[in-house]
Amino acid sequence: MPRKILVAVAWPYVNGEPHLGHIAGMNVPADVFARFHRIVGNDVVMVSGSDMHGTPTALKAAEEGVPPEVVATRYHEIWSKAHADMAFSFDLYTHTHTDRHIEVAQELFTSLLEKGHLSEAVQSMPFSETEGRFLSDRFVEGTCPHCGHESARGDQCDNCDRTLDPIDLIDIRSKRDGSAPVFKDTTHYMLKLGDFQEQLEKWVEGKTDWRANVRNQTLGMLREGLHERAITRDIDWGVPVPIEGWDSKRIYVWFEAVIGYLSATRAWSEKQGTPDAWEKWWLDPEGESYYFQGKDNVSFHTIMLPSILLGNGDLNLPTDVVANEYLTFGGADFSKSTGNAVWVPDFLTRYDADSLRYYLASIMPETSDSEFTWEGFHAANNNELVATLGNFVHRVLTITTRNFNNAIPTPCELDPEDQATLEACDTALEEVSKAIDSRRFRDGLRAAMRLARAGNQYIDAKEPWKVVKIDKDAAGTALWVGLNVISTLRTVFYPFLPISADKIHSMLFNDSDTLADGWKKREIIPGSSIEKPTPLFRKLDDSIIDEENARLSGS
Ligand code: MF3
Ligand code: ZN
Repeated sequence: MPRKILVAVAWPYVNGEPHLGHIAGMNVPADVFARFHRIVGNDVVMVSGSDMHGTPTALKAAEEGVPPEVVATRYHEIWSKAHADMAFSFDLYTHTHTDRHIEVAQELFTSLLEKGHLSEAVQSMPFSETEGRFLSDRFVEGTCPHCGHESARGDQCDNCDRTLDPIDLIDIRSKRDGSAPVFKDTTHYMLKLGDFQEQLEKWVEGKTDWRANVRNQTLGMLREGLHERAITRDIDWGVPVPIEGWDSKRIYVWFEAVIGYLSATRAWSEKQGTPDAWEKWWLDPEGESYYFQGKDNVSFHTIMLPSILLGNGDLNLPTDVVANEYLTFGGADFSKSTGNAVWVPDFLTRYDADSLRYYLASIMPETSDSEFTWEGFHAANNNELVATLGNFVHRVLTITTRNFNNAIPTPCELDPEDQATLEACDTALEEVSKAIDSRRFRDGLRAAMRLARAGNQYIDAKEPWKVVKIDKDAAGTALWVGLNVISTLRTVFYPFLPISADKIHSMLFNDSDTLADGWKKREIIPGSSIEKPTPLFRKLDDSIIDEENARLSGS
């Protein structure tokens, strides 16, 4: 029975372009996971979309003097294009300003209200006298009461990742004009998170295979005790509160954005013409769901989202919340060094998507922060992709086409080295599979690269380019074994390097495709024809390191 796998990728705020930190933290691991489960034959749906609402976009729009929808739509398009250019295989990448999403978010809000999980409360909120409006979330900054960070925002501290309310901030000021707001009473709906305390504790305690950071962060918050949290705001950009008399307020962006996973799965099902299909992942107890994101998103996925799901009844809780640490750059988080970041659209004007996917997977910040460097990118591309993987594929194919008239040779009897090399293919399939399925992506990539290295060593030892002149059968056998290794490399690299895997496929086979061939070593059939190969990867000039570093320092 195929497994039912929902790959749920965090919904980016669309107040700027994607940078490498975003895609290293969520899109690359999610895409590797989704592609792996598809090629294995599981029933996968991968969804996400742009997080259009809330103060991040409203603030950017106010700075530009345009309506929030203009900013949101502009960056939604940029993100969508970057995803396509990176070969991220979303089944649906939508956004939160669609009718369908707004409907589903309101439906869940109403259902929680009817089930008694919401309460109304009067809250003291910052009000700007200069602007004549309430300032929520990112419209205010101040000093974090927990860690002393001076530019904590009204909803969260960027330094210690704790969630905050504006009233917690010391020296609160308007992000827009620096003025000190006054506090005024306003009524909001609160989500009674305490209702779910026990269920959440049991659930998280049982999740012993989660990454330690995710589990500990969540258990820490549960130990402190869950309190009610406001889920409406005095703002006009967002999902309307579906209650009469609440026209001037909107649903809190995090409350509705996390519902996007469900609304997007439903929207996708409807598009497919199978409107009930979403139930496989959301209602069927066998459905699995994996949520990919950066570490600052954890509490929303391990507390807020599960509370909404539990409060509604029988919707499936996350199987795993796969949060990454940060990708740093010059010692700072990408997210905090905006002026100093590497942007995906710009990157792709000079370099290839698979090279970037490879490097980011190889340094993925799975258990601790990791650093992006241009030296590292250059080395990964030239030493690993070009010199190991690309070189192996190119050598074997070139020697074969040159000496065997563009046809796959017939192997003779296999010696122990041949056997061992064929076995290494099965080992790689096994190891990569285990690693990816347990969300250890760096290990998976390393196991795949080990096979490329083993292939090179085998061919170095067999020297078919020399042997072919004295013993054509022996050379043919070595090349046939080498071609089997290439066939396997195509498969094990497919989740990481889909574009290159498909190139390899078209050099080896003239039917089917990598995905359809499944997670196995497709046998190489003697006598079938192959074409002269073209290189898989481009070698980068040493000069790019200095050029890119200079570009960043603006000189
Ligand atoms: N927009 C948030 C961010 O960029 C992530 C939202 S994830 C969602 O940090 F699930 F809530 F949509
Ligand atoms: Zn803090």
